[in-house]
Amino acid sequence: MTLPVEWHRLVVRGDARGTLIPVELGRDVPFPTARVYFISGTMAGVRRGFHAHRALTQLAVCITGSCRFLLDDGASKVEVALDAPGCGVLVRPMIWHEMYDFSSDCVLAVFADGPYDESDYVRDYAEFASLAGAAR
Ligand code: TYD
Repeated sequence: MTLPVEWHRLVVRGDARGTLIPVELGRDVPFPTARVYFISGTMAGVRRGFHAHRALTQLAVCITGSCRFLLDDGASKVEVALDAPGCGVLVRPMIWHEMYDFSSDCVLAVFADGPYDESDYVRDYAEFASLAGAAR
């Protein structure tokens, strides 16, 4: 079965002055949010991510610009484009993800349900594939 993509869109308040994206934690993010970080200035041709999280759930939202995500559950892969303000995708635990094709103006906001914890990362694809296979 193809990996289901869980889209999550934030409401964009735009007017002639520009765009405003409000985020009320506990209402607009579908899990209790412990951390928010922002990714910007990633050059065209750079690919980042290359990991899965053992337990962390995240929501990655395009604020401006565009990029693409590869999501991989170890059995199937899907590519998605975050290419409009407010457009977001959930990244569940044990989903290998890579991010690429960043436009020069791309800003991503990433909401996470836990603090930064290096021990939660699986950075080796062979280990990820083995863990994902064992969980099936
Ligand atoms: P990294 O995980 O390599 O980014 P990506 O997954 O997008 O390729 O993180 C880049 C750096 O930022 C690295 O030194 C770890 C640090 N970092 C934090 O300090 N806190 C955080 O919440 C995150 C996500 C990363």
